[in-house]
Amino acid sequence: MSLRHFLSLADFSREELLGFLDFARRLKTGEVKGTPLVGKSLAMIFKKSSTRTRVSFEVAMTQLGGHALFLSESASQMGRGESIYDTTMVLSRYVDGIMIRTFDHAEVMEMARYATVPVINGLTDLLHPCQVLADLQTVQENFGPDLEGMTVAWFGDGNNMANSWLEAAGVLGLELRLAIPEGFDPDPRILEAARRTTKILLTRDPLEAAEGARVVTTDTWVSMGQEKEKEERLKVFRPYQVNGEIMARAHPEAIFLHCLPAYRGLEVTAEVLDGPQSRVWDEAENRLHAQKAILWELMG
Ligand code: CP
Ligand code: NVA
Repeated sequence: MSLRHFLSLADFSREELLGFLDFARRLKTGEVKGTPLVGKSLAMIFKKSSTRTRVSFEVAMTQLGGHALFLSESASQMGRGESIYDTTMVLSRYVDGIMIRTFDHAEVMEMARYATVPVINGLTDLLHPCQVLADLQTVQENFGPDLEGMTVAWFGDGNNMANSWLEAAGVLGLELRLAIPEGFDPDPRILEAARRTTKILLTRDPLEAAEGARVVTTDTWVSMGQEKEKEERLKVFRPYQVNGEIMARAHPEAIFLHCLPAYRGLEVTAEVLDGPQSRVWDEAENRLHAQKAILWELMG
């Protein structure tokens, strides 16, 4: 079998993404179970903090019969300057897969170029594909498997999550509305690519984006690595908060998603995050199932 990585949702066809999602669903219901990864190891490199990604990958490996190793930058030689190339060459001799969370997306691409085992993107400044796969699973749980034309409204920063939603929209034909202040737009190449295949609205008006949307979603205004810009960001993004007014404009059955960690009172009010339309805990759980599907496909 040829070597496959999981770097970006745009690397997959519609059938492949729907295949991952159906597999994740069957793993969750228990229709599919097994331990295909007995004796196999996943190295997990974290150059940024994590709760969900670390725990869900580690538990996923255990449940599939394998083992996961946590490698922080500071406790490994990467913190002392060992290169991505050398790290990749060495890890490829020990483990059966590598998950990496880092700043620069180019590091993940470099790793994938040299690795002889599958590489999984656990978040970069550019993309967060594992999260959006779990989000799509959550959308299907609420509205059924057919995602074509699904209206998704994004509020706030044009960040890694927004970029991965754009990629998902392009592959699956979602209708994505992005309410983003000027100067914080998503990656222009990813935006243009999505626009070539599906309906994308980029607006400065949050109420326009919310109108009738079935999925309302946002993320922190200050992503990892942007701490120094916090003060400015909190001011600029304030009008883009997801609150009762936004939810009232959305579809009456709309669901609210957030990749977490969330900051109540900033990007979302407590009323929405903890309210009846919120699906954030299902969404967090789905990280486990979606990643088991990825690990099984890539390493099984
Ligand atoms: N959503 C997400 O990736 O969470 P962590 O940063 O806790 O892994
Ligand atoms: N956009 C956020 C997502 C955290 C899971 C960040 O990059 O920090």
